[in-house]
Amino acid sequence: MENPKEIGLEKLEQTFSLPDVVSLCEEEDSLVILDQTQLPAREVFQKINKEEELIDAIVRLKVRGAPAIGVAAAAGLYVCFARTLANMTSAQLMQTEFQALANRIRASRPTAVNLSWALDRMTVLFKQWIAGKDKISMSDFQEIKHLLRAEAVRIKEEDIEMCKQIALHGVGLISSGSRILTHCNAGHLAVSRYGTALAPIYLAQACGLNPKVYADETRPLLQGARLTAYELMKFGVNTTLVCDNMAASLMSQGMIDLIMVGCDRIAANGDVANKIGTCGVAVLAHHYHVPFYVLGPTSTFDPHTPTGKDIVIEQRAASEVTDLHYIHRMAPEHVQVYNPAFDVTPAELVTAYITEKGVFRQIEDFH
Ligand code: MRU
Repeated sequence: MENPKEIGLEKLEQTFSLPDVVSLCEEEDSLVILDQTQLPAREVFQKINKEEELIDAIVRLKVRGAPAIGVAAAAGLYVCFARTLANMTSAQLMQTEFQALANRIRASRPTAVNLSWALDRMTVLFKQWIAGKDKISMSDFQEIKHLLRAEAVRIKEEDIEMCKQIALHGVGLISSGSRILTHCNAGHLAVSRYGTALAPIYLAQACGLNPKVYADETRPLLQGARLTAYELMKFGVNTTLVCDNMAASLMSQGMIDLIMVGCDRIAANGDVANKIGTCGVAVLAHHYHVPFYVLGPTSTFDPHTPTGKDIVIEQRAASEVTDLHYIHRMAPEHVQVYNPAFDVTPAELVTAYITEKGVFRQIEDFH
């Protein structure tokens, strides 16, 4: 008999109807993204053909979430590079232009390692192809375009597969009617399909376990209120929105069975960078003895960053804090603002890491 989780996954694949967040247009070489700054009010797609549009989309969080940024960066690098190929007369020039473009995209957001990871994959492929070449012909243009496009598509397909595996491993942590708290958005909108932290929840729903999710609103940019609540409800998951400062109250009353969050970078010692506020949730979980699970693909693990202290935390505009979702000014003019986009949860507060490879209680098992 087939495994019930596999049957659930089949059902999930058949019934999941949210549109792709990042894709390459079939008929023309454009990147298409779902503009997440407009959700949940409008589902608007944007075509991206130029470097400025790509970088703007990443910086302004039109496309966001660690794995989705990586997938968009790889596809965007292909699209933007392919458009400039006609001007490249030598291999030397081509190599310089490729590297410079990849570096400018890399600098758009510093914390999520998936961005660099995906660009590195594209770069390795490019360098292997160009090694030993001198002059560049028309057939070379076609060949490198084909190779880069195929690699960008592969990165997306692998991301979908990793999310499915995370769903299969993570669903074992969910029982019938489990009450789960999540922070920020680590769902379908943050990846290529299904999510990391939310993937096991979707699978649990497809398996008939009826999980109940509490979504932290996630100030300042409200990814929980705007995105997590939106996508969970679209799939019919029992969803309750709470303000960030309500987590302690929920946990103290025994209303949360487990916590599932995503991650932007896991350092070699297991410290986890994720959306600002995650560390506070982990401290509370420790105090109230609620298991705290971090879910992400192995591409989010960064062996080159020794500890959380070495992770560069992105600082963002003051207006994100002073204004309510860019619209309504709440704070006095000229007030000083501190607005780090991420914080670091120490490894000792993590109950387990769930990746496409399994459930790991210790970061050492992950290496
Ligand atoms: O600033 P954002 O919206 O890109 O932050 C996203 C998060 O912090 C997510 O939790 C993380 O990227 C994991 S996404 C699967």
